[in-house]
Amino acid sequence: MIHQELIRPSSLHSPIQVARPKSYQVYMETFGCQMNEYDSELVHAMLKAQGFNFTDQSDQADVILLNTCAIRENAHNRVYGHLGKLKSHKKDRGVVIGVLGCMAQNLKKELLDSQPFIDVLVGPDGYRQLPDLLTTAIHTQTRGLSVDLSEYETYDQIIPERVSGVNAWIAVMRGCDNFCTFCVVPYTRGRERSRDPEGILIEAQGLAERGFKQITLLGQNVNSFQFENWDFAKLVTAVADIQGIERVRFMSPHPKDFPPALLDTVAQHPNVCSQIHLPLQSGSDRVLEAMGRGYTRKEYLQLVEAIRCRGDIPLTTDIICGFCGETDGEFQETVRLMEEVGYHAAYVFKYSERKNTIAARKFPDDVPEATKTERVAQLIEMQKNISLKTNRTLIGQTVRVLVEGDAKKSSQQWVGHTEGNVTVVWDKSSPSTQPGELLPILVEDASASTLFGRPA
Ligand code: 5AD
Ligand code: SF4
Repeated sequence: MIHQELIRPSSLHSPIQVARPKSYQVYMETFGCQMNEYDSELVHAMLKAQGFNFTDQSDQADVILLNTCAIRENAHNRVYGHLGKLKSHKKDRGVVIGVLGCMAQNLKKELLDSQPFIDVLVGPDGYRQLPDLLTTAIHTQTRGLSVDLSEYETYDQIIPERVSGVNAWIAVMRGCDNFCTFCVVPYTRGRERSRDPEGILIEAQGLAERGFKQITLLGQNVNSFQFENWDFAKLVTAVADIQGIERVRFMSPHPKDFPPALLDTVAQHPNVCSQIHLPLQSGSDRVLEAMGRGYTRKEYLQLVEAIRCRGDIPLTTDIICGFCGETDGEFQETVRLMEEVGYHAAYVFKYSERKNTIAARKFPDDVPEATKTERVAQLIEMQKNISLKTNRTLIGQTVRVLVEGDAKKSSQQWVGHTEGNVTVVWDKSSPSTQPGELLPILVEDASASTLFGRPA
């Protein structure tokens, strides 16, 4: 159901004065995770089908959309900062402003009340309504919102509008039923639901035909993928079997019920990348329990051991520092566990209390900000040393790299990734090399984040 509120524009709104071109120009910015990137591609496709065009110049746009993230405070702040800048577009040119995504879902009326220049507010399950809401806002300056969560919406049948490239994302399930106590996702993205594999495979096939070489399957909790007799391992195998798809990755699995069949697929299928992102969050049993993660330190380590037994499968992780009541001793347990596992990379976050979550209701956010900052810095420094050591073991070896495009720092260099997802940079020497190729690269040097080499 769409809530279409007949709210008159506030005094900040100036009516749209210019004779509008027939096809409205949309400028969209995306914040947050890969799922949001994927959702923006869906939105792009839905708007294009209704005659909207896209521009990368915000000052030429009739509509400005922000696809937002609510996972941590700093994501919020970035969006608020951007919204502040949009006020002038509204005032000077009467641009229609839409806020999409998790913040729209989470803050709803609060956002509309505090930001009177927002015209349209749409949560992650409401994008099918977006073209109509924008059209109404453009023609009648009526505010509209669609913020109901759905138990069924998977945007099946909608093929996202992607720029050509090497990697494409496909969301295979949406929502999360885990309710980790710190996390806002179950509230912003609703209940878990899986997409029909038939649609996923048609989409993947189409991507292979367009020359995409790598597919990353996305879900807030991919272990829960289930559709009739399809589980996630079966889906990964089917995607990896598609002619032309050289690499399949997925994120994120949950350590509490990592499916053994999925480990078999990672270990055995040549096209499924030997690499697993296994979010730990904390190495302390007390903290894990308070976070509602559903596994103990010992169980997590047993899973790591089971993975190690299947071969060289690099692991990466997510860690939260300074969760409610985290003592120095508990933090040290995280330090020791990270040292023991030796992750290839770790994404380390300060705990950020999110409104309405279980932790926000049950526990005080009592670790001082300075302590959180210190702990994050310590883990980042430690991980940097571990990553540097691991990467240096590759010097002298030849790694298979998927060529992705120009390196960030120089168009005279290529960038790509190993199967284990380590970034590799090398000088362009052969004119025949093209993005999408799998190339053997001899590693000559390494930093904590990057391998440097030359074609072997
Ligand atoms: N505070 C800090 N980090 C968080 N994450 C999720 N919610 C929060 C929060 N409230 C982190 C977790 C998760 C990653 C995607 O974001 O580590 O795995
Ligand atoms: Fe959030 Fe936990 Fe669900 Fe991940 S599994 S999205 S951390 S609630």
